[in-house]
Amino acid sequence: MPTRTREWWRDAIVYQIYVRSFADSNGDGRGDLAGVIDHLDHLQELGVDAIWLTPCYPSPQLDHGYDVADYFDIEPMYGDLATFDRLVTQSHARDIRVMMDVVPNHCSDRHAWFQAALDSPTGSRERARFFFRDGRGEHGELPPNNWRSVFGGAAWTRVSGQGGAPGQWYLHTFSPWQPDFDWECPDVGEMFSAMYRFWFDRGVDGFRVDAVTVVGKAPGLPDAPPVALGLPETHAWALNPHTVFWPSGHDAWRLLRKVMDDYELQNPGRVLTSVSEAYTPRRPDLLLQYVRPDEFHQSFGFDLLLSPWNAKMLRHAIGDEYDVLASAGASLTWTLNNHDTQRTVTRYGRADAALPESWTGNNLVYTNTPVDIEVGTTRARAMFLFAAGLPGSLYLFQGEELGLPEVLDISDDRRQDPIFERTNRKEIGRDGCRIPLPWSNDAATAFGFSPRSVEPWMPQPADWGRWALNVQHDDPASMFTLYRNAIAGRRVIDQSTPLEWIDTEADKFIAYRRGSLVVLMNLADEATEVPTASIANGEVIVLSSNAGHADPRVLPANTCVWMQ
Ligand code: NOJ
Repeated sequence: MPTRTREWWRDAIVYQIYVRSFADSNGDGRGDLAGVIDHLDHLQELGVDAIWLTPCYPSPQLDHGYDVADYFDIEPMYGDLATFDRLVTQSHARDIRVMMDVVPNHCSDRHAWFQAALDSPTGSRERARFFFRDGRGEHGELPPNNWRSVFGGAAWTRVSGQGGAPGQWYLHTFSPWQPDFDWECPDVGEMFSAMYRFWFDRGVDGFRVDAVTVVGKAPGLPDAPPVALGLPETHAWALNPHTVFWPSGHDAWRLLRKVMDDYELQNPGRVLTSVSEAYTPRRPDLLLQYVRPDEFHQSFGFDLLLSPWNAKMLRHAIGDEYDVLASAGASLTWTLNNHDTQRTVTRYGRADAALPESWTGNNLVYTNTPVDIEVGTTRARAMFLFAAGLPGSLYLFQGEELGLPEVLDISDDRRQDPIFERTNRKEIGRDGCRIPLPWSNDAATAFGFSPRSVEPWMPQPADWGRWALNVQHDDPASMFTLYRNAIAGRRVIDQSTPLEWIDTEADKFIAYRRGSLVVLMNLADEATEVPTASIANGEVIVLSSNAGHADPRVLPANTCVWMQ
C-alpha cells in the first residue's frame, strides 16, 4: 500500500493513461490494463505519484469509454476485474496511486437503465432517471427545446413509442449514444454513491469526474438564448445558461463528497481525492465553486491549458487562478495536455501561437495555421518546466514526456472521434492526440505498442519511432530526460512555499519565486538578456533548452530555467 500522507494529491504528479492507446499486451491493436501493468516501471522511473485511467468500464466505445454501459465492471477488451485488482496492487507496491474516471452526466444508450427506460411508458420511474420529454409541434415532431449538443447537432433524439409510432425525445448533451442522467431522480445519486464505494473497496484512490459543468439543468428546460451565427458547432452548447454552471449540479458533488468523506472516516489511512473537469474560461470565481470544502478536492485550472504562448496571458491564466484559489486554501491543479486537446508541441509550434486571439476558449476547435515542430518542442519543454515549479498538482497526459506532436494527417476513413462526423467533418476532432504510444523504434511491433505485428486501432505515423522511449531514455537532451529531471527536482521544493511573481517589466519574460527557487521563462524567439540583475546571478538547477546557458545574463530563445 502507498505511504499514507495527508492530502498527497495537493502537490502530486498525476499521469493520465488513455488506456486504449497506452500499451497493448495481447496483440489486438488496442491498449489494455495488462499493458498498463507491463509499463508501471516506466511510470515509477518518471516519478509519478498517481495514475488516472480514462474510462475502462464496459462500453460500446462510441466515445471511447465516455459512453459507460456498466459502472461496476471492466470492459472485456481492456481486461477484467482480476486484472484491474492486479493493476491496483502493483501500482500501490510502487507507491503509485490509482484514480479512475467517472462519467456522471450521461451513460451509454446500452446501459441497462436506458434500455429499461426505452421499454417503459411515459412518466415511469425508469424514464425519470433521464430527461424524456414530449416534443413540440402539432405531433410532437420538434425537439422539446433548442439546445445544441457538444459534439454537434441537436441535443435531443426521438424514440419510438407504443407500436413503433414516434414517441418522446431524450436529452443528450454530447452524442445521441450518451443520454443525460437526471440527478433530480434519487436513483441516480444512489447508483453513483454505490459505484464510488465499489471501486474504493477495490483500492481506488480517487476519481477524475467528467463534464461536471452540465450536470445541473434549469427546471422546465427552457430554450437557450440564440447564439451568434457562424459560431462553431462545438462552441454553441457552452453558451447555454440553462445547463452550463446551473447551480443544482453542485448538489451532486456535495452528495459524492460526503460518500468520500464517510469512506475515509470508516477506513482510517485511506486518503481519497476527486478532480473535476470544469472548463470555466477566465472565471476563477466559478472554478472556486467546484473546490468548496464539501465538493471536489481539486478542479483543473484549464486557463493555463487554453492560453497562447504569450507572457501576459500566461501570467493571467496562472495568476488569476492562483489568487482566487490559494487565498481560499483550495488546491491548484495544473495541466498542459489531455485527451481532448491538441498536444503542446503542436499548439505552441503554430505560426500564431503567441497571438492573444489564439486563445482557444474551447479546446475542440482547431486552426490550420502552419506548425513548426521544432519551435513547438522547445516551447513545450519550457512550458512544462515552468508549470512543474508552480504550487499545486500537475496532471500529465501520456506521451507528453516523449514530446509527441499532434498527428494531424489522419485519413478521413480512419478518424473515430464522433466530433468529426457529427460536425459534418468541419472539425477534425481529437484523434490526433490519442495515437498509440511509441515505446520502441521497432516499426514491426507498432513501435513497441503491441507484442507483435498488428495494425493499431489508430494509425501511427511512419516516423513515430523518432519519439520512442528507447530512443530517448539515455539521451541527456531528450524530452523524457527533462521530464524525469524536473519531476525529481520538484521534490526539493517545499510545497508549502507560496508563489511570488517577479516583476520582469517585459512582455518577453514571465518569472516567479518560490522561496529560494526562481523560475524564469523567455518567450521570445531570440536569446534575451535577463531583465532583473538579481535573477541573473543564480545557480542554474534545470534548463529546458539544450542550447546551453553560457552567459548567465542571457536566456536562450523559448527557454525556461530554474535557478537557486
Ligand atoms: C469530457 C471528456 O474528457 C471527453 O473525452 C468526452 O468525450 C466528454 N467529456 C463526454 O464524456
